[in-house]
Amino acid sequence: MTESNHEVSASLGGLVLAGGQGKRMGSTGPKVLMRLLGEPMLFYIYQALSSVLPEEAIWTVVGYQREKLDSAFSRYASRFVHQQQQLGTGHALFCAYPLLRENGIRHCLVVNGDVPLVPPRALQDLQGKALSQKADVAFLTMRLAHPSGYGRVIRGEGDIVRRIAEEKDLQASEAGVDEVNAGIYCLDLERIGSYLERMDQNNVQGEYYLPQLAEIAAREGGRVSAVCVEDGAKELLGVNNPQELVYNEEILSRRIRQYWLESSVIVRNPEQVRIGPRVSLEPGSELTGPLEIYGASRIEAQARVDSHVWISDSTVAEGAWIRSFSHLEGARVEQSAQVGPYARLRQAAVLKPESKVGNFVEVKKAVLGPESKANHLAYIGDASVGSGANIGAGCITCNYDGIAKHQTTIGDQAFIGSNVSLVAPLQIGARAVVGAGSTISKSVPDSFLAVARAKQKNLERKLPQEEKDNGSTGQTGRKNT
Ligand code: UD1
Ligand code: CA
Repeated sequence: MTESNHEVSASLGGLVLAGGQGKRMGSTGPKVLMRLLGEPMLFYIYQALSSVLPEEAIWTVVGYQREKLDSAFSRYASRFVHQQQQLGTGHALFCAYPLLRENGIRHCLVVNGDVPLVPPRALQDLQGKALSQKADVAFLTMRLAHPSGYGRVIRGEGDIVRRIAEEKDLQASEAGVDEVNAGIYCLDLERIGSYLERMDQNNVQGEYYLPQLAEIAAREGGRVSAVCVEDGAKELLGVNNPQELVYNEEILSRRIRQYWLESSVIVRNPEQVRIGPRVSLEPGSELTGPLEIYGASRIEAQARVDSHVWISDSTVAEGAWIRSFSHLEGARVEQSAQVGPYARLRQAAVLKPESKVGNFVEVKKAVLGPESKANHLAYIGDASVGSGANIGAGCITCNYDGIAKHQTTIGDQAFIGSNVSLVAPLQIGARAVVGAGSTISKSVPDSFLAVARAKQKNLERKLPQEEKDNGSTGQTGRKNT
C-alpha cells in the first residue's frame, strides 16, 4: 500500500507556463515577474504548486527574457525549459514534454503563469478528480458573468466536453456560453503524447493552443473532465492587463489584512494597508494606514507603525515606534527605538535599543548604538556609533571620496555638534566633543574637544559720516534699489 502510494506520488509533476511576454500589460519585462504586493506573480504560483508537490517536481517553461527569471527564481532554474519562440500554450507544453517524461512524470498539473491567486485546494481537487476519473485531460472551469477574453467550454450531448473555443474562434451559436477554461490542467502525459503530435495552428491567432488537447482527446474517445469551481472563481481570474493585475492584488491584500486582524494585530484604516505575503506581524503590533510593508519584514509585539510609512525587508522590534512618512529598506530597528517622522533608513541601517532617529535623517550601512540620538537633518553612512552618543543637526559623514567608501567610528557618549562634516576614514573617541560647524578630517582621541572652523572676527564697519552721526549702528543704511 505504502509502496504504491509512493509510486503514484513520484509520478506527479507540475509545469508552469511562463514563456510569454504579456504585451497587454504595457511592461517591457516578462509578465510573470510583475509584482503583486511586492512579490512577482510567479512567486504565488510556486507557493500554490509547492504546497501540493515537492519543489523538485516543478518545471517551468520560460522564453521571453528568461535571464530575468533565472536570477529571480534561481531555486527553480535547474528545471526551466526553454521555449525559443512563443508559438502558443500548446507549443510550450510540447517543449517541456520530453523532459517531463524522462523524469518519470505521468500526471502533470499544468498552470498558466498568470493565475497568481490559484488556491492549493483547487489544484488538489483537480488532481484528485483527474486521477480518480482516469482523465486524459482534466481542467478547472468557472462560470463568469463577463467571460470575455477566456476560452469557452463547449459541451455537447450529455454535457460532455467537446472542445474549448478561444474567444477569437467562437462561433456565433457559442456566444452565450459562460463557462470558461481557467488555464489550469491535469494531464495524463502517457495518454496525451499522440494528441500533442496532432495539435495544429489552424485558428485565428495561428498559435498552438493547449486547450486543443481537450478537443483531440474528446474526438479520439479519451476522457475529458471539466472540474467546475463553484465558489472562489474570482481566485482563478487571469492577469492579462493592468486592471486585472490590481484587481488580483486587491483580493490578495484583503485576504492578508483579514488574516492579520484575526491574528491579534491591530490594523487601523485597513483598506489602505498593504502587507506582502512574506511579512510577519506579531500579536499586539499596531499599524495605521495608509501604509505598505513588503518583503521579509517583521514587526514585533507592541511595535507601532504610523501612517504613510513604507517598509521593505526590515525588522521593527518589540516596542519600537516608526512615525509617519518614514521609509525603511533593509533596516533593523531594535527594541523601543524610535524613527521619524520623515526618516530614511537604508540597507543595513541598525538602530540599537532605545536609539532615536528624527526628521530628515538618512542612515545607511551604519549602526546607531543604544540610546544614541540623531534627531534632525543628518546623514550617517558607513558608520558605527557607540552608545549614548548625540549627533547634531546637519552632521554629515562624508563617506565617499569619489572612488571608495570609508568608515566613520564614533565612540560612546560622544557629542557631535551641529553642521559638522566628518571626513572618513575617521574615528571620534568616546566622550569626545566636536564643535559646531567643524570639518573634521583627523581622528579625535577619547575625551578630547575638536574644533575645526575659521576663527570669528568682528570688524567695525566703515559707514558714511552722516550715518555715524545718526548713530544708526543697527541698520544697514542701504537704500532699497
Ligand atoms: C489561456 C487559454 C484560455 C483560458 C485562459 C485562462 C490558451 C490558448 N488559452 O488564454 O483558454 O481561458 O488562458 O486564463 O491557452 N505562454 C507560454 N508560451 C507561449 C504562450 C503563452 O509559456 O508560447 C504562457 C504565458 O506566459 C502565460 C500562459 O502561458 O503565463 C497563458 O498564456 P496567455 O497568452 O495569457 O493565454 P490566454 O490568452 O489568457
Ligand atoms: Ca492569460
